[in-house]
Parts: sequence; C-alpha cells; structure tokens
Amino acid sequence: MADLSTNYMGLNLSSPLLLASSSLSNRVENFEAAEANGAGAVVLRSLFEEQIEAAQSEIDAAVAVGGDNNPEAHGYLPPQTVGPKEYLTLIKKAKKAVKIPVIASLNCVSPGSWSEYAKQIEEVGADALEVNCYFIAADPIQSGDDVEKKYLDVLTSIRRTVRLPIAFKLSPFFTSLAHSALRFDKGGANALVLFNRFLQPDISVGKRSLVVSMPLSHPSEMLLSMRWIAILYGRVKAHLAASTGVHTTEGVIKQLLAGAQVVQLASTLIKNGIPHLATLRDGLGDWMDKEGHASLDELRGSLSQKGGTDPGAFERAQYVQLLLAQN
Ligand SMILES: Cc1cc2nc3c(=O)[nH]c(=O)nc-3n(C[C@H](O)[C@H](O)[C@H](O)COP(=O)(O)O)c2cc1C
Repeated sequence: MADLSTNYMGLNLSSPLLLASSSLSNRVENFEAAEANGAGAVVLRSLFEEQIEAAQSEIDAAVAVGGDNNPEAHGYLPPQTVGPKEYLTLIKKAKKAVKIPVIASLNCVSPGSWSEYAKQIEEVGADALEVNCYFIAADPIQSGDDVEKKYLDVLTSIRRTVRLPIAFKLSPFFTSLAHSALRFDKGGANALVLFNRFLQPDISVGKRSLVVSMPLSHPSEMLLSMRWIAILYGRVKAHLAASTGVHTTEGVIKQLLAGAQVVQLASTLIKNGIPHLATLRDGLGDWMDKEGHASLDELRGSLSQKGGTDPGAFERAQYVQLLLAQN
C-alpha cells in the first residue's frame, strides 16, 4: 500500500488531506471525524483580528458601519460569539481530542498589537498557525506595492511573535504573484495557501439590493490554484497548500502532480460529509498503487513548471497556439 505520509511545514502528517478552515472546523467532534477518516491535520475556523481587538459589541458596531460600504466584511464574519478566550479553549480541546496536528487560524487585515495573541495560540499547544490576510484592496490611492507591503507587515509582525510554523493564506489578486510569493517566503512563511476565496456579492435585480452569500466552490475553480502551484513549485522554499475547488480524488492527484504539499478541503466535505475524506484518501492510495508510486515525493511536482526557465512565456506560447488554431 502506498505511503501517504507527508511533511508539512516540519509537521509529520499521515496524509496530505487537510480539513480546511471552515464551518466544519469549529467542533471537536468534526476534528475526531476528520482524523478517523484520514485527515493529516485540521485547520480551525478563523478567529478575526476584529474579535481580538475589540469587545463583541464594538465589533458589531464596526460591522454595521462598515457593512454599508463593504458588504464582504459583513458576510464573512461568522455568526458566532466565540471570542479570543473561547478560541484558546477550542485549541486545547482539539489537542486533547486528536493526535493529528491542529493548525489555528487568524484572519486579519493589518499589523497591530493584536498579533501578540498569536503567542497565546502557541502557548496552548497549537502545532502551527494559518494566517489569512483577508483584505480588499479597494482604495485607488493605494498602490500594488503598498498592498504587498501591508501583507508583509502582517506576516512579519506575527513571525516576530511566535516560533510556530506559519502558513500564509493568500488571495490570487497580486500584480506579480510570483514576486509577492517570494517576498512572503523570505518574510518567514513556512507555507503558502493558494488561494483564499473572496466573497463576491451579487445583485438581486428584483429587490434592487446586494446579495451576500458564500456558495460552495465548484471544481472548475481549482484551475487557478493548480496553475500557480505548478508555477511556484521549486521557486519558493515554502510548502504550497492547495485550497479552492478540490472535490474529488482526481482533483487531489492533480494538485499533487502540480506540486502541492497538501490539499485543503472545505466545500466538498460540507457537501458530502466528513467521511468523504476517507474516499479521497483511499482513491489516492489506490491510484498510487496502480501507477507504482510508493510515496508522494515520487510524484509531487512532476507536472510542475520547475524545469522551465520562463513559465509565463511558456503559457503565452500555448495561448497563442491555441487561439491561432481556433481562428
Ligand atoms: C462556510 C465556510 C466558512 C469558511 N470559514 C473560513 C475561515 O474561518 N477562515 C478561513 O481562512 N477560510 C474560511 N473558509 C474558506 C475555506 O477555508 C477555503 O479556503 C475555501 O472554501 C475554498 O476551498 P473549498 O473549495 O474546498 O471550499 C470558509 C469556507 C466556507 C465554505
């Protein structure tokens, strides 16, 4: 039977499949179910910078005001009152309940004294920290470099605070994603999670109002993350974690071939239940056996663009060829 174990940011995982930070990852029973069904680690639901910085009533007021101009913020904050204290308790409970690594998650927008809280996350025993910089760059005065620097400041402020491995969860919206990734790599990220999924408010024409919801992902959304994992594999030291649109065994295999160290799963587990993890794990093992791969290292990144000197030029050539053939 193929060996599915993998290293992720220095943590030894029994499988490359992770329960992603989501509505499933705030209950100890779900962590236990994830472990029983073959998850290599669990990422807890995020605690928000706003929750650390202010009392719940102040957050509510801020959301109410911000929600007028920024509907994304309103929809993304969880309808829960789990504050910083309860979050530390959740980490402790998770650590007691499962043997697989427990990765805490902070969702933030700017550097600040709140980042000291990461120290407490470390002290209660989290194995790693995922930092989700959820920031809508909507200010026309702010340049691309300003935005990138803001991300870097968040990362370095937390890096200074803890020794824990840090996974930095990114949006795909950078002018030069490869350059940004390299800066975050050098800034102390042990892994880059590609990608965060932003809320995209819709408009109800009938009601003449915004519709804010978080629909589950579709498998076609996987291509963006897969493409960037294939480009960045071998170009950054940080491990690459795939997130968004992986629903099937085939999706998991594709991300590993592209160069993903691990694959994070949210929508497919919300839709199909946590036991779906076992289907994906067994499917991956069976495929590796059939193809004669004894370990993940044998296949990881074999379809990446590591060998190519200029992945951008390579992609452009393919694009031109394809369009010329169609016209
Ligand atoms: C209901 C729900 C809640 C989520 N909550 C969080 C969260 O608290 N923190 C976070 O970083 N990502 C959160 N996510 C995003 C997921 O971790 C993941 O990046 C995204 O859903 C794309 O992966 P998927 O295609 O497997 O769903 C959430 C996703 C869903 C669907």
